[in-house]
Formats: sequence, C-alpha cells, structure tokens
Amino acid sequence: MFAPHSILKTNASDFLKDLDLTDDELLYLLDLAAEVKASPADYARALDGKNIAMLFEKPSLRTKLTFDLAMKQLGGGSVFLEGPIGVREPLKDVARNLDRWTDGLVARVFLQSTVEGLAQWSRVPVINALSDLYHPCQALADMQTIREHFGGGALTGLKLAFVGDGNNVAQSLMLTGLRLGMDFALACPPGYLPDPEIVTQAEGLAAVTGARLLVTHDLSAAVEGAHAVYTDVWASMGQEQEAVERRRAFREYQVNDALFVQARPDAVFMHCLPAKRDEEVTDSVMEHARSVVFDQAENRLHAQKALLLMMLS
Ligand code: CP
Ligand code: NVA
Repeated sequence: MFAPHSILKTNASDFLKDLDLTDDELLYLLDLAAEVKASPADYARALDGKNIAMLFEKPSLRTKLTFDLAMKQLGGGSVFLEGPIGVREPLKDVARNLDRWTDGLVARVFLQSTVEGLAQWSRVPVINALSDLYHPCQALADMQTIREHFGGGALTGLKLAFVGDGNNVAQSLMLTGLRLGMDFALACPPGYLPDPEIVTQAEGLAAVTGARLLVTHDLSAAVEGAHAVYTDVWASMGQEQEAVERRRAFREYQVNDALFVQARPDAVFMHCLPAKRDEEVTDSVMEHARSVVFDQAENRLHAQKALLLMMLS
C-alpha cells in the first residue's frame, strides 16, 4: 500500500512542533508507522544514502537510539554530537555546516528557540527531539500505541488523562490527542500548569474536533473514565536543582494503584520514560498487566521511521 516510491512527502519543511504536520499528514503518518512496523523489510532501502546529524544538548536513551536505528534500517545513516549548540560557534554557522553534509537534523535542546534557529539557517529539515515546550516525536509514538490498543482506528471518543507536570510531553500530547478527537485531561499541582498559549491553541483544536479539554488540579476528575493514564517525571532534564521542591509539590500526583483503578477497567498506563519509581509512578503500576510503556518505547522506532520517510524521501 505504501510502496517506498509513493510515500507522501510532508509539506512541512521542519517538524519543530506537533502542529507542523497537517491533520491529514498526521493520520497518514500513523498509518505509515503501522505499515512500516508490520513490514520493515519493504522499507530497508527507502532512505538509501541519506544521513542525519543528531545534536543533543541533553541525555537520551530512546530518542537517540531509535533515530539511529531508524536511519540504519531505512538504508541511511546518522552522526551524533552531544553538547550545547551555538556555544563553540554561532548556531547559524553550525546549521550551515551540517546542511552541507547531511539530509536532516534531529536536535534535542533546552530552548524551543534553538530548534527554530537551526531551522531558520538550515537548508535541510530539522526535527525537534525534545525541547522545553514540546516532545512531538514522543506524541507520534504514543498515538500509534493508543491506536494499537484500542482497535487501530479513529481515536475519537477515547480519553487520555495526564497526571503531572504541564510540560513538554503533556503539551505535545494535549495538542496531538485533541486534534485526533481524543478527550484530554491534565491534572497538575498549582504552579505547574501548561503554557497558556499552548492551552489556547488546544482549546481551538478541541472546538474543531468536539473533543473535551480539562486542565485541573483534581486528580479524580482527570482520571475518571480515562482509557489511558499517562505520567512523566516530576523534575525534567535541566530541572534537577528543583527536585526537592518538586517532590513536595507533586507528592499527591502519583499514579499508584488507588488512582489507576479510578480510570476505566480496560485503561492502559503510559509513560514516556525514563520513569522514577515511587515518585510519579509506583512499581506496581509500571509493572501492571495494562502498562504499555515498552510498547510506547518500541513505537518510537516505527513512528520516527514514518516521520523520516515523510521528511527525507
Ligand atoms: N522518552 C524519551 O524521549 O526518552 P529518552 O530521553 O531516553 O530519549
Ligand atoms: N519531561 C521529560 C521528558 C523526558 C523524555 C524531560 O524533559 O526531561
């Protein structure tokens, strides 16, 4: 169905945030990700001779290795650089070196403005591999995972509950889930609300799809009726010095058995990983029969293959 020569190339020049793909492109990407997962050998030469450069200002297990493996398994390659971007030489010079050698850049950064700057100066596509505002590649894999677990079709009518920090992962899930018609509820402590501009965008998406958006401090209200309960670390990368204060603020916002049981009886537990057991999630929920955290991790590979095919083919 998706012969490599007929892959739909996205109109987006970069993937810096969730909304850079159109609704149709997002749906196509999820179908392509499922196809690539089912028939990986059909795509083994699809990016023959193409290379990406990965620039990571922060550590990574899943994102780094799945982009590297994705390129290899599509016939291409990758090079990797860890450290601050734009310190040894200006960011605009970094971008204009890399675009002479490679076909795409994948960057994990502290500031969204860094990926935007790379995209402004690079002639090859730039992919956001996590910033302070978004983790759009994570959201792609998570939507693939939710689709797989709830019948493989439309997500309309499903409810995703996020418990924890209104940060990058929550913000990408909010935007991507709502535009696919999922209800989205976020329960966070006071002071850890999502970015107001992103919430305004999310409200606009909800108005279009008819999905419901709830941002609350009330855990039970968020989790009630949820098909998926999702959490993320209390202190993200770069916030380590706030860990003690955050442990205090988030103490009630743990996904444990007592909270998980308030979701639907068939609800799945989700986490982007890495997880801190006995902080945002208990070991019993991580290891629960309905925990899909390693399916999410697996789908990082397939969803990113689909993204790379759509951006670099
Ligand atoms: N979920 C995620 O992005 O994992 P890494 O930080 O290991 O890449
Ligand atoms: N919110 C976390 C996600 C890690 C994948 C962070 O930014 O560190």
